[in-house]
Amino acid sequence: MGQLRELIDKLHQNRELTLSEYAELIKYRNAEDAEYLRSLAQDEAKQTFGNQIYVRGLIEFSNYCRNDCYYCGIRRSNGAAERYRLSEEDILDCCRTGYGFGFRTFVLQSGEDMGYSDEDICRILRRIRDEFPDCAITLSVGEKSRETYEKFYQAGAERYLLRHETASEDHYRILHPKELSLNNRKRCLTDLKDIGFQVGAGFMVGSPGQTEEHLAADFQYLRELEPHMIGIGPFIHHKDTPFRVEPDGTLELTLYCLSILRLMFPKVLLPATTALGTIHPLGRELGVQAGANVIMPSLSPKSVRGKYLLYDGKICTGEEAAECHACLENRMKRIGYQIVTDRGDYPGWTRE
Ligand code: 5AD
Repeated sequence: MGQLRELIDKLHQNRELTLSEYAELIKYRNAEDAEYLRSLAQDEAKQTFGNQIYVRGLIEFSNYCRNDCYYCGIRRSNGAAERYRLSEEDILDCCRTGYGFGFRTFVLQSGEDMGYSDEDICRILRRIRDEFPDCAITLSVGEKSRETYEKFYQAGAERYLLRHETASEDHYRILHPKELSLNNRKRCLTDLKDIGFQVGAGFMVGSPGQTEEHLAADFQYLRELEPHMIGIGPFIHHKDTPFRVEPDGTLELTLYCLSILRLMFPKVLLPATTALGTIHPLGRELGVQAGANVIMPSLSPKSVRGKYLLYDGKICTGEEAAECHACLENRMKRIGYQIVTDRGDYPGWTRE
């Protein structure tokens, strides 16, 4: 027991542990030490960000996907998924709505939809850039070539979200069909960073086959990559995927991982994700209290919200964007935090 506290103190001081120490930190976790870790992580976040929470307007603009990841509800083989694409005008309308709420970051996310050429994406980026010059644009459209990422950057995207999903080859193979490769995913993240994007990596907590050692490898990989953002959330099964009968990740372990990440990366942008809000009614609040400093409410039109379903039970699928915004503002207030009108860049980041 005393040993675990020592590990937590070591993590706090050095910002990293060895592979086997990360695994121990997870394996031997207990309620008392978890609370100690949590409170250090919350303090750490408060030192960097105060009680301010950055908000990102998420625009889920297409759920077509060429990939067939076993965990994901919008995988290609899911014939039950009702597919949609938003028009450019719809996307801009989402931004206009979000801008009105004070959002200064828009996240454009989709499956790997071959229906959009690089030029299509760049045109959308330029239109948003022109109309909202004071906003940051985050793109999250999957694995592309370095050249494509460079075009996106030139067109005005300056952040990119691409979770690595798992840093271990054996675990990667459990989650993905053979045509996908961990090396390419890591190559994408390295290229994105190199180009100058603020980069977000991340993983699911409790995905099928995940062990303490896999999580340890995720922490170690993140330490190497040094991303600006880290998105994690519990794995939640989807009824129309091969993982339909797999158990969901837990609130407890997800919060524990959030706190570890906050101690490792005091300045990293760390969202309390929708998946976290889905497994527990106060999941996002608890995430903030465990060290998260970002929330990402959906700006997608009500008509498509119920279709961007990566997992079962997703919250906020029946609400208008305005309701979600008001709800989150209240939720954050109730725990002593405040949503701010700010681009919320990584501290010190500037465009090259
Ligand atoms: N449960 C939780 N998260 C999921 N994602 C995909 N499917 C699921 C699921 N069933 C996550 C992946 C992906 C992100 C957009 O959503 O980590 O990168």
